[in-house]
Amino acid sequence: MRALVMTAPGGSENSVVAEVPEPTPGPGEVAIDVAYAGLNFVDVMTRRGDAGYGSGWPHRPGLEISGTVRALGPGVGALTVGDRVVAVPKGAGMSEVAIANAASTVPVPEGVPLLEAAATPLGLATSLLLLTEAGRFNPGNTVLVHSASGGIGSAVAQLVPLLGGGRLIGTVGRPEKVAEAERAGYPVALPRDAGLAEAVRTATDGRGVDLILDPLGTTALALDLDLLAPGGRVVLFGNAGGAAIEALPPTSRLIRGNLTISGFSHRGLVAAAPARVAAATSRVLGFIADGQLSLPLTELPALEDIPTAHDLLAEGRGTGKYVARVGGSR
Ligand SMILES: NC(=O)c1ccc[n+]([C@@H]2O[C@H](COP(=O)([O-])OP(=O)(O)OC[C@H]3O[C@@H](n4cnc5c(N)ncnc54)[C@H](OP(=O)(O)O)[C@@H]3O)[C@@H](O)[C@H]2O)c1
Repeated sequence: MRALVMTAPGGSENSVVAEVPEPTPGPGEVAIDVAYAGLNFVDVMTRRGDAGYGSGWPHRPGLEISGTVRALGPGVGALTVGDRVVAVPKGAGMSEVAIANAASTVPVPEGVPLLEAAATPLGLATSLLLLTEAGRFNPGNTVLVHSASGGIGSAVAQLVPLLGGGRLIGTVGRPEKVAEAERAGYPVALPRDAGLAEAVRTATDGRGVDLILDPLGTTALALDLDLLAPGGRVVLFGNAGGAAIEALPPTSRLIRGNLTISGFSHRGLVAAAPARVAAATSRVLGFIADGQLSLPLTELPALEDIPTAHDLLAEGRGTGKYVARVGGSR
């Protein structure tokens, strides 16, 4: 079978499509004929060789897939061969056949195309869990999202109205991405420059924001805390730039301001509490099935097109969510 293989740390020059042996499912696992694979920034962090990502080379990327169940491992009762599913594979999802734990494999409702479904088990589930679990979003909250025009950023903009509505502010790394963030659903979209703090204060009539979703390591954390309203929360959930993570601010800063800093890891939750990720995935699939959620996607026609799209993400030039066609689909 064919699969995307990253041969060494670096860029697209080290990504190839190669023939690899077909895997078979072990106990509690399913084999899935992959129709589509979602691209995520974690692929780029692994490709760069960021500490804590990937477990050596060659590396087979892909943590988000849709497809049909090909085979069941021992002890899997809830799924049937031929079921349309999404899953968080055990890596190597950008392959014609992938292996996933049954616990993180979720049926796709009738009428939801596998193309759209492929964005749900990592990207959309993360976006929902950032808001609901980690961020304790309440209707009416003002939510500030860094990297607003990307995959997670555009999904959050669509989910906030479905969770009761709130006020959205997006930030982007370059001024030319402001228009993309606006198109993604941010009525207020701001470049992350020296004027950001003042612009956010103006946009919130001096009140500050209730929730900040921050995938920028700790580079923006001091600013985040300055921008929070009393009771405000920051969720740290990424380190796109790969910079060293700094120590957290003194506890007194949090106590004095009634502030919360929390963290979120999809990978950690899949390992420790897969049912919570599966429940979030089912919920976003339900939104799609009901016609409430339609995330704009860029479809890549084949495995061979993934490395160039990874380049776009690596250079901060990606727009929205990318999904690659891998095998047959319906
Ligand atoms: N914790 C989790 O479980 C979890 C799950 C999914 C995603 N994430 C994180 O959430 C973020 C968004 O993920 P995504 O897949 O939707 O990616 P994405 O937002 O489509 O692309 C990554 C974005 O990171 C920003 N960025 C900041 N510094 C960068 C740098 N040095 N190089 C490249 N990009 C840089 C860019 O936006 P701006 O220039 O506008 O800032 C870029 O568009 C990523 O940081 C990812 O690691 C975390």
